[in-house]
Amino acid sequence: METRGAGTTGGRKMRLSMFMTGDSNYHMAGWRLPGSRPDLGVQIREWAEVARKCESGKLDMMFIADGPGVSGTEDPETMSLSARIDRMDPIATQSALAMATERLGLVATISTSYNEPFNLARAVASLDHISAGRAGWNIVTSGNKTDALNFNLDTHTPHGERYERAEEFVDVVRGLWDSWDDDAFVRDKAAGRYVDPAKMHFLGHRGKHFQVRGPLNVPRPPQGHPILVQAGSSEPGMNLSARVADVVFTSQSGLKSAKIFYDNVKSRCDRYGRSPDHMKVMPGTLLFMGRTNEEAREKYDKLQSLIPLKVALQRLTNNLGGVDVTQFDLDGPLPDIPPNSARVSSIESYLIIARREGLTVRQMAMRSAAAKHHGALIGSYKQICDELECWFTEGAADGFNILPSDAPGAINDLVDHVVPELQRRGLFRVEYEGRTLRENLGVPRPESRYSLNRQSA
Ligand SMILES: Cc1cc2nc3c(=O)[nH]c(=O)nc-3n(C[C@H](O)[C@H](O)[C@H](O)COP(=O)(O)O)c2cc1C
Repeated sequence: METRGAGTTGGRKMRLSMFMTGDSNYHMAGWRLPGSRPDLGVQIREWAEVARKCESGKLDMMFIADGPGVSGTEDPETMSLSARIDRMDPIATQSALAMATERLGLVATISTSYNEPFNLARAVASLDHISAGRAGWNIVTSGNKTDALNFNLDTHTPHGERYERAEEFVDVVRGLWDSWDDDAFVRDKAAGRYVDPAKMHFLGHRGKHFQVRGPLNVPRPPQGHPILVQAGSSEPGMNLSARVADVVFTSQSGLKSAKIFYDNVKSRCDRYGRSPDHMKVMPGTLLFMGRTNEEAREKYDKLQSLIPLKVALQRLTNNLGGVDVTQFDLDGPLPDIPPNSARVSSIESYLIIARREGLTVRQMAMRSAAAKHHGALIGSYKQICDELECWFTEGAADGFNILPSDAPGAINDLVDHVVPELQRRGLFRVEYEGRTLRENLGVPRPESRYSLNRQSA
């Protein structure tokens, strides 16, 4: 990895999130390394240890990726060679982790395509109470074709329609979180009054997809609204981010395109009367690291050598929205693939990488098995810090969602080696600024829509 020069930060601090998925070995072969915990996904005490490790490194949050189904079941033999199968419910997991940590933000991925807004508003508001203001919701529309089969559907809903539902879904959830004013629950034993009825609000929502009266049966969350994360980078994805997201996850594999995305999504905030500073853009980044460049490269090569080709091809097929890549010449270039009903921006990102790096279908599949279409850095701890610093100071990122190649190895490496160097450079906090996730991210607590209405009346 080349070493890049650093710019200036103006006192701005980088945000860091730890990306957890299933057993959290993001690299397809991560679970096979000698030190990896392949059962981490279902061992809550191991999760708690990882969460406390992240908290000792002052990370902003632990993010749990999720999808409502198992992908690859069409070919059980190939599926059985991959670890991306079992995963616990993220709200259940984060609720347990809330009791094991004090400051770490706890973000759960939940689909807008396969849930009802009332249930989701209640679950995430509950997590915010359980964690005393550290909850977040990663809003996804779910891109896996077979997930629909678990939810009374025969086929996947097209991309545009999923986003249309997501827009309305998010509005209902935000409305339900405002069901009660912050001080509605008086619980006055002497007067015998539990709640002030003047501070209760019916949502009365009637839209195209949902009809919800309210109120929610959970008090207003400590953060007002738990943190909203959005991870879609298509046109409708960017618009939803600009309107509602406090944090934007994105897959960006090059500095130049990352800067364009950053400026593009931030420039849209104006349309919705929002400050771009209140929306933190955090690309997903996979780190292969070691004490030296050679050690990092060795780790990467070892991991790559453990990927069965058919697993890589299955993953690429899935990430291209079901376009079967085995139909192509594996040693020829990845052909142009149009967006489909399952995937839009991820197909675009794959094509950009394949063209820029001149990758064949086989090479693309192996790259995808390592890091999908996310940015991937291979280098010494210092080189990794140089690159993160460069993206941060060049205006391509407010921080990073770190994808651990293997767990707990890569998580420990980040906290023990990368974080201290970033702190030494003044790029990352040495202590949490506040108690809630909003306070630590530096995004304001939203007023209830009803108190805003009263102020403007
Ligand atoms: C860092 C990152 C994390 C993501 N995590 C999830 C996830 O956990 N579950 C999911 O269904 N999609 C996840 N996605 C995918 C997006 O939510 C989105 O569905 C996908 O990018 C397609 O939408 P788009 O075409 O608008 O980009 C993630 C994307 C990124 C960049």
